[in-house]
Amino acid sequence: MSRSLTRITRRVALAAAALFAAAPLAFAQTPIVIKFSHVVASDTPKGQAADMFKKLVEERSKGTVKIEVYPNSQLYKDKEEMEALQLGSVQMLAPSLAKFAPLGVKEFEVFDLPFIMPNEDSFAKVSRSPVGAKLFDKLETKGVKGLAYWDNGPHIMSANKPLHVPADFRGLKMRIQSSKVLDAQMRALGALPQVMAFSELYQGLQTGVVDGTEGVPSNFWTQKIFEVQKHITISNHGHLAYAVIVNKKFWDGLPADTRKMLEGAMKDATDFENKVAKQDNEKALELIRKSGKTTIYTLTPEERGQWIKTLLPLHTEMQSRLGGDLIQEFYKYSGFSVTGH
Ligand code: LMR
Repeated sequence: MSRSLTRITRRVALAAAALFAAAPLAFAQTPIVIKFSHVVASDTPKGQAADMFKKLVEERSKGTVKIEVYPNSQLYKDKEEMEALQLGSVQMLAPSLAKFAPLGVKEFEVFDLPFIMPNEDSFAKVSRSPVGAKLFDKLETKGVKGLAYWDNGPHIMSANKPLHVPADFRGLKMRIQSSKVLDAQMRALGALPQVMAFSELYQGLQTGVVDGTEGVPSNFWTQKIFEVQKHITISNHGHLAYAVIVNKKFWDGLPADTRKMLEGAMKDATDFENKVAKQDNEKALELIRKSGKTTIYTLTPEERGQWIKTLLPLHTEMQSRLGGDLIQEFYKYSGFSVTGH
């Protein structure tokens, strides 16, 4: 072979090698995409925090990680989103803690026990406690990793009739999330609980498939629930909160420095969410009040006493489902005590 031919051959070989070497590099440079699906509107505490997380991650990663946020059940409804996460069709969700039993971790329903969070800081304390960490550990065997707890404040109740005392619930079809504790709560009040996806709630109420619901003002406002419910009661009997969860296999497969950056952004988005939840719900309640479309009633201490008397036995009844020790440990951080009521 002539010398010039050898040179050409060598050049071709080098060019080919460079091309192959560039291939994995190009792959590494394609943005990592995280699909974050949720069921509420963007202008709710959860919706805003998801958008904040996206902003922080995309800034800090200089575009190498992309967060695609899909609000309003656009991609998946309640139950489907859990399945989609496990299958890896989406990578991140922030479902209500009342929706974890279908995933196989029913213990999250401890958060649904009536009146279990008596103080303004109860949720914050529990979510930062070993109880919060233990519940997240349980998720791992399901292929899911818990990243953060997000608050959304106390529940209100609504129907087309005033709800002052437990007797007012008799025979009402009440929409619930898929939690057996919430099911038992509605039954104890004399109502007929019906599990329904959040995305179907407005229509369910409008058409009379259900008569009433529990929820939080920010969701009542953004889903226009107040337009199809004549009466709202500020009962503060329960609490709505979320866990931000990721597909564990996806998470574990990320480069360590990317995971670290995501954890930092999640911490900041969490601080933001927990800060806006209270003010956002207060603002929503005020907007609902101003709309004049529904009455807003606050329980008297005597009426609240009746609710407590009716609902506290659930704490004992639910021991077999949730575990007595877990409930006792939860009390320690939430500040609940049976004698305090
Ligand atoms: C509900 O289904 O009522 C809530 O969990 C919706 C939400 O995510 O706030």
